[in-house]
Amino acid sequence: MSKRTIVALPGDGIGKPVLDETIRVLNAAGFEADYVEGDIGWEFWCDEGNPLPERTLKLLEEHKIGLFGAITSKPKDEAFDELSPELKTKGLVYSSPIVGLRQHFGLDICMRPCHTYQGNPLNFIRRGVGDTVEEPMVDVVIFRQNTEGLYGGVEWSDPPEQVYDALMTHPKFKKNFGSAPKSEISISTRIFTKNATERILRAAFNHAKKYGYKSVTVCEKPNVIRETSGMMYKMAQQIQKADFPDIQLWNTNIDAQMMWLTKNPEDYGVIVAGNMFGDIVSDGFAGLIGGLGFACSAQFNPDSGIGVFEPTHGSAPKYADYETSIVNPVAMVESACMMLDFINENDIAAKIRKAVAEVIEEGKVRTYDMSKMRGSADVVENGAASTKEMADAIIAKL
Ligand code: NAI
Ligand code: MG
Repeated sequence: MSKRTIVALPGDGIGKPVLDETIRVLNAAGFEADYVEGDIGWEFWCDEGNPLPERTLKLLEEHKIGLFGAITSKPKDEAFDELSPELKTKGLVYSSPIVGLRQHFGLDICMRPCHTYQGNPLNFIRRGVGDTVEEPMVDVVIFRQNTEGLYGGVEWSDPPEQVYDALMTHPKFKKNFGSAPKSEISISTRIFTKNATERILRAAFNHAKKYGYKSVTVCEKPNVIRETSGMMYKMAQQIQKADFPDIQLWNTNIDAQMMWLTKNPEDYGVIVAGNMFGDIVSDGFAGLIGGLGFACSAQFNPDSGIGVFEPTHGSAPKYADYETSIVNPVAMVESACMMLDFINENDIAAKIRKAVAEVIEEGKVRTYDMSKMRGSADVVENGAASTKEMADAIIAKL
């Protein structure tokens, strides 16, 4: 078989160092691939008016697999201010290239595993009975619908007449919002389709079945958001009954789930949610296992085989210009392991995960976040590992 080509999408800020170090780890683990770099991020918005140039989409179309670092996003007006002067008259509006990628390729399945590493000083602990301290072992995989819902981008301020008129046909809109001037109304929609909802539910159930999780929890709010959350839960009931009778179906409301997060996180297995609640609940669980330095994710379209694998963190601009990068590369390395699973390089993925686990358990090499330091340029002098040293330690274990 010919060597695989991976599209490396460093993006902005710390995206670059974590991706560079991760590629070193992949090479050391024996993953044979060529990497082509795809342009994405802030500089392409400023210089070209497009943070996700067409050429990058073509690269992904061709090679199918992307490893993505992080991008910088800014609010609409700030983005406009930084646009190169000759582009300012072109009516360009900034929108997040990562959301653009998801929608362009229909990367509708987002997977975010959160599992506890033994020996991670950032693990969540809580009081048990008497004076005991408990460290629950979290092993949760969140399946987040990645293209629809509240992040679907269908929104207006001062909506067009037809939209307003249509909304006025809804008795609750008329009663609760009908007296506000149209020009003072902003609307963000939450649209779920049956097709996409079924796809994320089935992905969640299939994963639970394949890896032996006993439950799938739908984490929405069907008692209040009756149409969208209600549809997801109802479909989950049907799918469970017809095809996954051995897996328990649980139902939690997003608000209560966040409250319970610290009470019994070890009880959950696979969690499935719409776009926004999936985003929220996955950050919540990530906080229990070490935070952004550990939160990895995969997003893919099972039909086209296109997948983009990325840490959940952003570009952390305040650390972007450090001569020696200090951030934790584990989230990016773990995301690369999800890529390896996706392309059936499971043995290499397992090898890397084992090496990461050993480094963390041993506790000799820890980035600043793991050392509970405040991030600053002198953390390495004070004993924290740099991004590169952390990668070196993983490579040494390989
Ligand atoms: P962020 O994730 O970039 O950073 C928040 C804080 O988390 C950092 O200041 C740092 O203390 C810590 N952190 C992040 N990654 C870490 C790592 N690997 N190791 C150790 N500590 C780490 O989020 P923030 O500051 O809200 O956003 C910065 C920029 O990133 C914004 O422009 C935002 O829009 C963008 N962003 C991009 C994302 C993406 O590319 N998928 C996701 C989230 C934010
Ligand atoms: Mg998020």
